[in-house]
Order: sequence, then C-alpha cells, then structure tokens
Amino acid sequence: MRDFKVKARLAQEFSRFSGSPKAFRDLSNELGITKEGGHHRLYSAKDIRLIRLKLLKPGSQEGRPYRIPPILNFRMTKGGTGKTTIAGNVASTLAMQGHRILMIDGDPQASLTSLFGIDWVNEEITHIGELMRHYYKKQSANVEQAILPIYAGNMLDLIPSDITLADADSWLMGATNREAMFKRLLNTEIAFFSTYDAIVIDSAPGTTLLTNTLMFACNTLIAVVWLDGQSIEAMRVLASNVAELNTAFALSTAI
Ligand SMILES: Nc1ncnc2c1ncn2[C@@H]1O[C@H](COP(=O)(O)OP(=O)(O)OP(=O)(O)O)[C@@H](O)[C@H]1O
Ligand SMILES: [Mg+2]
Repeated sequence: MRDFKVKARLAQEFSRFSGSPKAFRDLSNELGITKEGGHHRLYSAKDIRLIRLKLLKPGSQEGRPYRIPPILNFRMTKGGTGKTTIAGNVASTLAMQGHRILMIDGDPQASLTSLFGIDWVNEEITHIGELMRHYYKKQSANVEQAILPIYAGNMLDLIPSDITLADADSWLMGATNREAMFKRLLNTEIAFFSTYDAIVIDSAPGTTLLTNTLMFACNTLIAVVWLDGQSIEAMRVLASNVAELNTAFALSTAI
C-alpha cells in the first residue's frame, strides 16, 4: 500500500474547498484529520474524501442506492498508445480528489499491475478472468479477496492481472452469453462494486472475447490514440467493434 499524501494547498484544491487556508485547517481539525506536521501537515486521499463529503449537502451520501458506478474503459485496438499510462494517472488523480476508485487490469501483460509496483510474477494474483470464471461456474467469486489496496481506506484499489488472464478467451469461447459475462458479474456482486464511485479498466490492445466483455458493460469508452495514420485505422476498427456489439445487443456505447 502507498502512503501517498499532498500538502494543504493541493488538498484544498482537490476537495474544492473555496474558503481561506485557516478555515480549511479548522475544518480538518473538526473532522479529526491528524494535526501531525502542524502547518506542513499532509493529507491523504481518505482525508480529502472526508472533507468533500462534509461539503456536500448533509445526508446526500446516506442510503446511497446500490448501482454500478460509471465505468471508464481505456481502449484502443492498436498497442502502445498510452492506455495504461493514462488509465493509471486518471485513476490515481480521481482518488486524490476524494473519489473511491476501483482499477481493473484487463491486460494479460499486466502493465497496470506493474505500474503500481506489484510483482505479479511472485505475488498471488486473482484476476478478473478468474472472478468471471468462478461466477460462470456458479462458484463463489469472492471479489473482495482479489483486491490489492493501493491507497489506504480503499480509496484506490486494484484487481490485478498476470499472464494467465490470456486464458480467458479459451473458456469464454464456449460460454453462453459471453459478451455479458463481466456485466453479469458486476450485477451479481453489486453490493461490493457499488461501494466505488468509479471503475477504471485498462484494456489490452486488439479485439478479443475478453476486451469485448469488458467493453459490453460500459456506456463510454475512452479511446487513446496518437495522431498518426495507424491510430486513425485503429479507431475505425474500434468503432466497427462497437457498432457490431450495438447491432447484436441493441446497446448504445459511445466513444
Ligand atoms: N503522453 C505520452 N507521451 C509520451 N510517451 C508516453 C505518453 N503516454 C505513454 N507514453 C509512453 O508510451 C509507452 C506506451 O505506453 P502505455 O504502456 O501506457 O501504452 P498502452 O497503450 O497501454 O500499451 P499496450 O497496448 O501495450 O497496453 C510507455 O513507454 C509510456 O511511458
Ligand atoms: Mg497497456
């Protein structure tokens, strides 16, 4: 787990607090945020969340209904365009702004897992393919056990990956309703997934059954491209994948 913290000026900006630095310190004291460091004290993502929630309308978080949070799926059929770099940075920035974020490494190359310093060769990993397979076999998916915490207080969590995620396509091939597999897992485990404010998926390049099932659950894809000819071609391929899914399942995914 990372003990990542920011100075008061940034914490004030991230929590969208518009008062004076003194008022910010007073509010922090009132909320019981550690005074360690005095004027130089540092704020964690969890502290920033506490302040944000305090600034929201009273009671607005109480009895929050179970719902699948917005899913940001970083996608491109071409490799090496910056999907992992951007997914990791967007996720950690959102977490530092006080949002609870779940990252899912959807690439067997496990670049997002490595980006957060996890040694996937030696660590015990439960990846999203395994969770979906457990669900499909009607075994307990135990999603919570797959989580690796990156920032304290479940502000930034990761379902990591390793090379064995490449196996997902072989069993998905014979599965009924395979495009909806990830969506069905989300709905079955809604009590867990709804505790997050957003889910960030780092997808593998190319088009596979795995990228399709991760894409099927999203209303919005974030297409990461360079301004070159190959990227334009790759955008066309991705747009045609989306169109195929939309035609087959009458969905409306936007890029
Ligand atoms: N905005 C950027 N400017 C310059 N280099 C970048 C930028 N974003 C990423 N890179 C570099 O480009 C390389 C590929 O980035 P990254 O791994 O994020 O791409 P990717 O699309 O996830 O790749 P893959 O398709 O293999 O998963 C990395 O070396 C990364 O450091
Ligand atoms: Mg990548």
